Amino acid sequence: MSLLFQTIKNTGKSQTLKKLIRSPISSCKCLLARNSSDVSRKFLSFDEVVLQRRDEARRSLVIQVNSESSFSELYGYCSNYATINGIHHYKNAGGEHFMLIEFNTEDSLKEILQSCSSHQKDNDIMALQSPFLWFRASPVKKDKLASSSSRLITKNGNAAIDEDMLFGELTNCATVSDQIQLLYDRTMLNDLGIRLRYMVARQLEIVFESLYANIAVRPFGSSVNGFGRMGCDLDLVLSNNLTDEMSDANKRLVYQDKKSEGGRGPWQRHMELVGELLELRVVGATRVQRILHARVPIVKYAHEFTDVDCDLCYNNMSGVYMSELLWMYGSLDPRVRPLAFLVRRWAAAVGLTNQHPGRWITNFPLTLMVLFFLQQKTSNGFILPSLKNLVNRARKQDMRIAEENVNCTFLRDMNILPQECYSQNQSNLETLLLQFFEYYAQFDFQEKAICINEGRPVRKPNALPLYIVNPLAPSLNVSRNVSYEECERLKSEVRNAAWQLEAGLEGERPDDWGVLGLIEKKASRGLKKLLRVGNSHRLVSVKDLFNDNDENISEGGLRSKLQRLTQTTAKEIKQVLANQNVEGKKDQKIKFKNNQVANEVYRIRRNKMV
Ligand code: CTP
Ligand code: MG
Repeated sequence: MSLLFQTIKNTGKSQTLKKLIRSPISSCKCLLARNSSDVSRKFLSFDEVVLQRRDEARRSLVIQVNSESSFSELYGYCSNYATINGIHHYKNAGGEHFMLIEFNTEDSLKEILQSCSSHQKDNDIMALQSPFLWFRASPVKKDKLASSSSRLITKNGNAAIDEDMLFGELTNCATVSDQIQLLYDRTMLNDLGIRLRYMVARQLEIVFESLYANIAVRPFGSSVNGFGRMGCDLDLVLSNNLTDEMSDANKRLVYQDKKSEGGRGPWQRHMELVGELLELRVVGATRVQRILHARVPIVKYAHEFTDVDCDLCYNNMSGVYMSELLWMYGSLDPRVRPLAFLVRRWAAAVGLTNQHPGRWITNFPLTLMVLFFLQQKTSNGFILPSLKNLVNRARKQDMRIAEENVNCTFLRDMNILPQECYSQNQSNLETLLLQFFEYYAQFDFQEKAICINEGRPVRKPNALPLYIVNPLAPSLNVSRNVSYEECERLKSEVRNAAWQLEAGLEGERPDDWGVLGLIEKKASRGLKKLLRVGNSHRLVSVKDLFNDNDENISEGGLRSKLQRLTQTTAKEIKQVLANQNVEGKKDQKIKFKNNQVANEVYRIRRNKMV
């Protein structure tokens, strides 16, 4: 297998990084997805991972091609210019094919870029500096390519997992712990997903580098904190990159600054420019939305080549340090991320979280709830240390002060954290999940705040329904948006989940055993039951149920077809239909009272299989 990297600019980093750089991709993946059973105790720091990923992006290009079979031609063409480390293939939502190529050195990538041309015919097109290119068909008879033993590292590497297949695999797991681990392994943001997100950041950096002397575009949030799933959004921060070199007092020639005029801060004015640049000079950026008068001004856009939705803000280094903190907690014990994934997935399934902003909890505070639970001392001990513990152990090199003097200093090298500070409890994921729900089913939300700094509940400073202390700015509540009703729903859903999980552990395995009942959207549960053939896990294909041009199938017709195909009794079908709110009068067109159910049926019909 090809090497991940061959060179790296920053030579001041530790041996660990050098070792990693020379290690094959498979071992790098291990760092992202360790199993509960792994024994390696060697921790990579967030800075090392970020440095490695940024370097990788500087040596990579994303090239649109005709199809996956363009590989050997592209490989042959590019290897005339530079040594290739590896090529990954993926498709975007529009079905267009792309290859992410990683070269050996940044210089070789520059050489390739110098040889690029622009569109042949259209003089109005002004070529863009960008790592996103396309591969033109050869005007002459195709060169005979030297046969290469190289292979694509990934094919269709960006494809979201098929949910039905995932549920099938979860059904066949031996234990609930296996289910939780499998859900994490199958749905976490993969290597290509991370590479593409760093490419999107690098693309902006290239545009801004031509305008600013010391700019960096850094990903933060779930794309980099280890809690991201495939398809997650990309949070980006535009910030000054004040390296030691930039602030060296011995360097006497200094850039003249342009004073910003007008009432608003200079960054906000620049964000207006960013919006314009995204529309005019960033290839692949579409649907640019400027939200500049909010408390944290952002520019949102969709990147159509990578299918990533981006939120770009500025000067938010505390967001980056928060991602670092979450990364560290996630890497400290291999059970943290799988448990958080399950909890995030459950919260989405029961409708506690929602992709739109509102008066409900979001994934970030939910993740803090998981970390907080893992800090609690059970009879077997705790799993994660308090943040206070990490702050007390911080050294000089761990000092970080973010904007508005937010102190983000905490121990960053987990290798020097004594073993007795973490992983004291050896419970499996199943036990932890049940205890998580039980813990919050009994938590005193009325009086207490969740505080990972202390690692124990603290008194709430105000009467907001849900109080989760912002770890880096402890006077702030990260869940201040959550309404009383949503907090009540959270309490009742954790109680339901605890009950459901516990009940499922006794007796025979129902169809939705273990975590299945927790993560399956309520609306689709009855439908799956309805379409299941006999007692097997096989489901009737909806194409057997609906003819292609059959928009007006009657309920009576549907019932008898279902009865025949699923070997179920009429009574059972009536029961499930009633539960699904699909009841109507006999022999009338089906009316779905509930939009969610209707959408689900139409989605299934569209996909023609369940
Ligand atoms: N953040 C923060 N304080 C908040 C909200 C967010 O510091 N009150 C930071 C966190 O580092 C968080 C990041 O901003 O991870 C991005 O926030 P968000 O996109 O809401 O959460 P993600 O962790 O990225 O989760 P998701 O996958 O839902 O996007
Ligand atoms: Mg996010």
